[in-house]
Amino acid sequence: MRIAEKVHYDPYDENVRADPYPVYARLRAAAPVYHNSQLDFWAVSRHADVTAFLLDGDRFSNANGNSIEPASWGPNAYKYASVLAMDPPMHTRVRSAVTTFFGSRRIASLEPAVGRMVRDLLDEVPDRFDFVADFVDRFPMRVLCLLIGVPENDHGLIQELADKVVERENGTHDAPIAAIEATLALMEYFGGLIEIRGRAPADDLVSHLLAISGPGQKVSPEEIVGFLNLLTAAGNDTVIQLLGNAWYWAWRHPSQRELAFAGNISGWVEETLRFDTPNQFAARMAVVDIERHGVVIPAGAKVLMLPGSANRDPDVFADPDRYDVTRLSPAKVTFGTGRHRCLGVRLARLQARVALRELVSRFSDYDIDTSGLRRVAAAEARGFLHLPTAVTRR
Ligand code: HEM
Repeated sequence: MRIAEKVHYDPYDENVRADPYPVYARLRAAAPVYHNSQLDFWAVSRHADVTAFLLDGDRFSNANGNSIEPASWGPNAYKYASVLAMDPPMHTRVRSAVTTFFGSRRIASLEPAVGRMVRDLLDEVPDRFDFVADFVDRFPMRVLCLLIGVPENDHGLIQELADKVVERENGTHDAPIAAIEATLALMEYFGGLIEIRGRAPADDLVSHLLAISGPGQKVSPEEIVGFLNLLTAAGNDTVIQLLGNAWYWAWRHPSQRELAFAGNISGWVEETLRFDTPNQFAARMAVVDIERHGVVIPAGAKVLMLPGSANRDPDVFADPDRYDVTRLSPAKVTFGTGRHRCLGVRLARLQARVALRELVSRFSDYDIDTSGLRRVAAAEARGFLHLPTAVTRR
């Protein structure tokens, strides 16, 4: 048997999705460059390789997107996955146009609005509620709507469509028709919004993108639609997953929950980001043959970088399977690295910190009913759809 095939890794396998970390450990040890010929992908799992490959924008291309799903992979991916499916110079132009909007001051200025949304939602929850469906699912998309400039009346519609885009059945290998239809509906909506903002600019992302015309900065209406569509996918469920994971893992580790509830909110967020990252893959296409650890990945191959595995690599993180909210982990690759590094890092952290702070200020403790737990079905995501919770109020 070839080295690359010594371990079997099927990201759609239900046991793997329930707990991928033992498989990642085997991959790192025995098949650091893994090939799954049946599903037609390669995977790298060691921190050093994931980081090096993500930084190697010359030999790895995003031109087909970054998804494992066949429906989202191909030369048209840039139309709905925007910057994530672009190489330079297109990537440089569009990314530099949007980056200026996500500055630290603008993101920090959202804190009061996020706080209000979170408090309003928590005012409504009874002592037993679904932490995901009744709480965290309800605000990250609305925060994005505020930034984008979606009128308040339409927030519910956008939320509904964004949820459909990422909905998957267990074990499915591709995006269902309903998800594709929801993507098209979102794109049509955003096309209309661009027309409205063209006539009546406001202080929002759409108006910002329509207005800028610096050298190399201009983006077309189609490119704006693609970027807004990417935001609804990249900036919504990731935050929901992060918060569900934080709630779940702190519950599983009472001593860490105590530290979190004593005020170590940042540590709680950061360790959750490392321990159970929402984004398990970042796919790329190999532009040329690439040799690593004696194995050659052929040009044209789809290569999955596995941040979830890199974040548990014992060569970088001491005792990596221990959930420890006091740990410092600047080397984690949860948000990627290189030219496609997440644009929403500040926004994600802000929302997570505000939500957890508000929860801790109201509740002294909580319990989770594991019989009602349901994980997100998409292979590339780690998080919960349902997290039944019983809270003890302060
Ligand atoms: C915990 C929450 C989040 C996680 C774990 C996360 C993770 C990631 C990762 C791993 C990438 C790089 C993917 C790759 O290299 O293929 C990425 C890119 C991106 N993220 Fe996030 N993200 C989060 C939240 C957000 C939010 C809130 C936004 C909204 C602004 C956002 C917007 C983006 C965009 C626009 C890109 C593409 C950047 C580019 O291609 O140049 N993300 N994210």
